[in-house]
Amino acid sequence: MELLQAIQLRRSVRAFESTPVSDEQVNSLIEAAVWAPSPLHQQPWSFVVIRGAEAKAKVKQLCQATKQAVIDGGGPGWVGKYSFDFLDQAPVYVAVLFDPKKAGLGSFFNQSRGAMAAAAAAVQNLMLAATGQGLGSLWLTFFDPLKMAQALGSPEGLDVAGIIPLGVPAENPKAPPRKAPKVFSDFYGQ
Ligand SMILES: Cc1cc2nc3c(=O)[nH]c(=O)nc-3n(C[C@H](O)[C@H](O)[C@H](O)COP(=O)(O)O)c2cc1C
Repeated sequence: MELLQAIQLRRSVRAFESTPVSDEQVNSLIEAAVWAPSPLHQQPWSFVVIRGAEAKAKVKQLCQATKQAVIDGGGPGWVGKYSFDFLDQAPVYVAVLFDPKKAGLGSFFNQSRGAMAAAAAAVQNLMLAATGQGLGSLWLTFFDPLKMAQALGSPEGLDVAGIIPLGVPAENPKAPPRKAPKVFSDFYGQ
């Protein structure tokens, strides 16, 4: 698949077939992920491949807790209708964790954004590779990331960039239109 085609074809998929996704497939997606750039090449990411019922239940539980907190806090009305059923459907998820201390020279200024940026690039690589294999994916962040890291048994100090449910898509979502990019010349606003 052409790169631009994969970039444009990737959709956030929230309905999956039960068709299995093999370890080889998942490993190939993680292989794509780790070719992402990272500050000082510190590669701040790590991955938890989630297939088991207990880990999946913990993920769903933390997502539902966050949904309830948003509802209780008077958040937007659509949240009440947001369903995590796709978490029951997807045969596998990949949690992408990162070490905020591995932020390149940013760490010198107490900035961790470089680590999250690198993890985000890894997530996008993984999702594009999934698209290339005909798999659907979703970048899920609807949870407390530090609680999620803990629930997944991660060492202290790691953060979660996202959990990516993967599977054969059971829907073909329409591409949400993109805004025209703000592009300036030499200086912002020009
Ligand atoms: C950092 C990030 C977090 C996201 N978190 C969620 C999420 O928790 N739940 C969800 O359904 N979609 C989530 N999305 C997906 C966006 O809703 C989606 O990318 C956007 O609507 C555009 O649709 P597309 O991905 O099909 O182009 C997230 C996307 C990004 C980049």
